[in-house]
Amino acid sequence: MRYMLLILSIVIGSVSVVHADYKDAFQKEFIDKPWAGAPIVEEGVCIECHISKNMKADYLKIPQEWKMSIHYKNKVSCHNCHGGDPADAAVSCGTPHSGFVRTPTYKDVPEMCGKCHVGILEKYLKSGHGRALKAAGKGPNCVTCHGAHSIQKASIDIINEVRCTKCHTYQRAKIMKQALFLTEKKIGELEDRVKELKEQGMVVSDLEKALFRTTAGFRTVFHSVNVDLVKEKSTLFMKDLEVIEKDISAITSELGFRKNFSAFLFILFGVFGIVYYVYTKEK
Ligand code: HEC
Ligand code: HEC
Ligand code: HEC
Ligand code: HEC
Ligand code: HEC
Repeated sequence: MRYMLLILSIVIGSVSVVHADYKDAFQKEFIDKPWAGAPIVEEGVCIECHISKNMKADYLKIPQEWKMSIHYKNKVSCHNCHGGDPADAAVSCGTPHSGFVRTPTYKDVPEMCGKCHVGILEKYLKSGHGRALKAAGKGPNCVTCHGAHSIQKASIDIINEVRCTKCHTYQRAKIMKQALFLTEKKIGELEDRVKELKEQGMVVSDLEKALFRTTAGFRTVFHSVNVDLVKEKSTLFMKDLEVIEKDISAITSELGFRKNFSAFLFILFGVFGIVYYVYTKEK
């Protein structure tokens, strides 16, 4: 009988060990991995000097805005965009030195951002917006829609009457927003379901990766500002999302099974306990 109890506790214990292994692997693969594997210096002379009292008042708010941004969270710092060496105390902005990009002109902003957001730059340059920018400086650049230092997670809320009526009617923008809406809604639902499963301790790293990849791919499409293309791609992306949805449902029912199984183990354990108690009492 004692052995029985021992075996039961080993079984239960090993379930949680497997779980811990997965969590460690996930942590290493997803959370701790710096962007593109390259070490990025977060603080350096750029910020030190740019928050000092010698700085122009207009410029002082820049490091503050940046600290609130998604780039700060992902360790994309001043020099990753502007160039220069954040470890070189001799750097001075007044004297341009090798690699220092300085402030890009309105027309050159897309290339600065596109160093990292490669797929988006490609779509943007081919779009009505990109072509209008390059031809006559008339199209919006990345900063017009996302800002430069206060950049946040992107969503279709960026498409609004204030921003999109500076150069043309809202009608065009509205059709675009409608075309994106259903796919965005589905993405939101799936993200919530994956988060829920993760909170319950299920292995969802593959789901997270698949969803992230699909979402990132879909969100480049807006930059074509081509409504027909967006509609066509939405149909394709919806199919990918349905595959992911099936996998989510499979894990959800597995979770249901596991819950029932642990309840079963729990009851079994209890019954054994009682039997053992009665057995030893009677002896
Ligand atoms: C994601 C890329 C990116 C990062 C990171 C970034 N900048 Fe910028 N910065 C830009 C762009 C783009 C502009 C041009 C702004 C515009 O067009 O409004 C700019 C403009 C500036 C300007 C000139 C502003 C003006 O009004 O002329 C200063 C100063 C500056 N950045 C400093 C910094 C400092 C200091 C940091 C780090 C705390 C930083 N930037 C981080 C992209 C970036
Ligand atoms: C020793 C102080 C100091 C350091 C270090 C420094 N800056 Fe500056 N920076 C300044 C000052 C002062 C200005 C404003 C110049 C002016 O009056 O226009 C400036 C302006 C800028 C501008 C806007 C003007 C332009 O030429 O484009 C950018 C962008 C910028 N700095 C980025 C950086 C980056 C990136 C680093 C780190 C690699 C850095 N700075 C390091 C003092 C500094
Ligand atoms: C040095 C590489 C780098 C540069 C240059 C850069 N970014 Fe980013 N950006 C990142 C990383 C890393 C993230 C966070 C991971 C992600 O969400 O893709 C990010 C995130 C973003 C997001 C939020 C994405 C989301 O998940 O919703 C936007 C919007 C964005 N960047 C716009 C810009 C703009 C505009 C510029 C130019 C002014 C720029 N980026 C320049 C690396 C860069
Ligand atoms: C800085 C000016 C400017 C802003 C701001 C702007 N656009 Fe545009 N947009 C243009 C120009 C220029 C064109 C292309 C020339 C044309 O067809 O008039 C264009 C074209 C378009 C087109 C048609 C593209 C095509 O190939 O037929 C759509 C859709 C569009 N914009 C959506 C938007 C949305 C959505 C926003 C807001 C998030 C926005 N625009 C903000 C300047 C702007
Ligand atoms: C006319 C406005 C507009 C312009 C110009 C624009 N974007 Fe966007 N961007 C958006 C909107 C709207 C979304 C969200 C699309 C969606 O949710 O499907 C977005 C999404 C993004 C994302 C998030 C992608 C993801 O995986 O979640 C990044 C990164 C980004 N843009 C970078 C850029 C860069 C870099 C440029 C310049 C080359 C640029 N954007 C130009 C409006 C714009």
